[in-house]
Amino acid sequence: REKELAKLWQANVLARDFFHACLTKTSYGKPAREYLARRGISDEMITAFKLGFAPQAWDKLSTAFTERGIEAKVMLKAGLAVERTSGSGVFDRFRNRIIFPICDLRGRVAGFGGRVMDDSQPKYLNTPETPIFNKRNMLFGFDSAHKVIRQTGKAVVVEGYMDVITARIFGINNTVASLGTAFTVEQAKQLMRYTDEFIFAYDSDAAGQMATMRALAIVRNLGAAVKVISIPDGKDPDEFIAKHGAAAFQTLIDEAAPLLDYQVRQALQEIDYSNLEGKVAVVARVVPALAEADNAVEVNAYIARISQSLGIDESAIRSEVGKFLAQS
Ligand code: CTP
Ligand code: MN
Ligand code: MN
Ligand code: MN
Ligand code: MN
Repeated sequence: REKELAKLWQANVLARDFFHACLTKTSYGKPAREYLARRGISDEMITAFKLGFAPQAWDKLSTAFTERGIEAKVMLKAGLAVERTSGSGVFDRFRNRIIFPICDLRGRVAGFGGRVMDDSQPKYLNTPETPIFNKRNMLFGFDSAHKVIRQTGKAVVVEGYMDVITARIFGINNTVASLGTAFTVEQAKQLMRYTDEFIFAYDSDAAGQMATMRALAIVRNLGAAVKVISIPDGKDPDEFIAKHGAAAFQTLIDEAAPLLDYQVRQALQEIDYSNLEGKVAVVARVVPALAEADNAVEVNAYIARISQSLGIDESAIRSEVGKFLAQS
């Protein structure tokens, strides 16, 4: 069993080195190099993250592996190859994609993400679940960020590979990606070994905002402090940094809104409170957050703000908070 796992780790390292060589050392890797250059990814980052390119062919990796005596069984188990449906043998899973190696905390290559270089679908293809790759447990960039997360006392959580790498280019080194919008309890627990303060900087589209609310609930249940950045211009941190620079992103991080602030703003933004029904809805939405917040000064300030925005009495909000506390 141990031996089996060792073979998978080893296959992944070989695959990473293969993809990296395809990107950096071949003529057919040129479009991939150009793609990364267009997106502002420096050679330094290509080296640091050992980015790669999976060639546009059915069996480049499989053939190279077979020549090195690696069994098809291992390639399949590592998720690097897929079984042919007609005939026998395997073909490469990752083809004509930019490759992002996904490492565990110790820097071992657990799996890969692969991005197309045009608008075709799916945009990203990841290693499927394998004995050493469980997406729920992985955080992209964690192996190179955990020390800085401990030093700064903060973890910045973003959605994607490109967000992490762009932040790194500009020296923002405490950033990790949850590999999409589904932040998990497992990811939270791992991060909490390094910090008790999380800053979420998910994409500003609807999916990102929904995911932020879910992530907040998870982190808060575990007792960590959370702040939220809403990317004001541009859709995600990568775009924002490309447009406005790292200093502007660092300012967003430094001025990230506490959870309560974010929830109050979201409620006032999303709900039409011009009528009574809307006012009731806003209050219902913010009451749990108000009830859970433990700083009375802060809570008072938000109650004042909500009462002003809605044009209702502060005492009405207070009494709803009281009811909520009595119930829970
Ligand atoms: N993701 C994934 N599979 C998909 C789409 C997304 O695994 N089909 C994960 C990837 O880790 C991706 C992250 O979710 O980096 C965020 O997705 P998205 O915001 O769509 O991509 P970006 O990271 O912004 O990528 P890019 O800037 O290259 O478009
Ligand atoms: Mn702290
Ligand atoms: Mn997104
Ligand atoms: Mn994005
Ligand atoms: Mn992006």
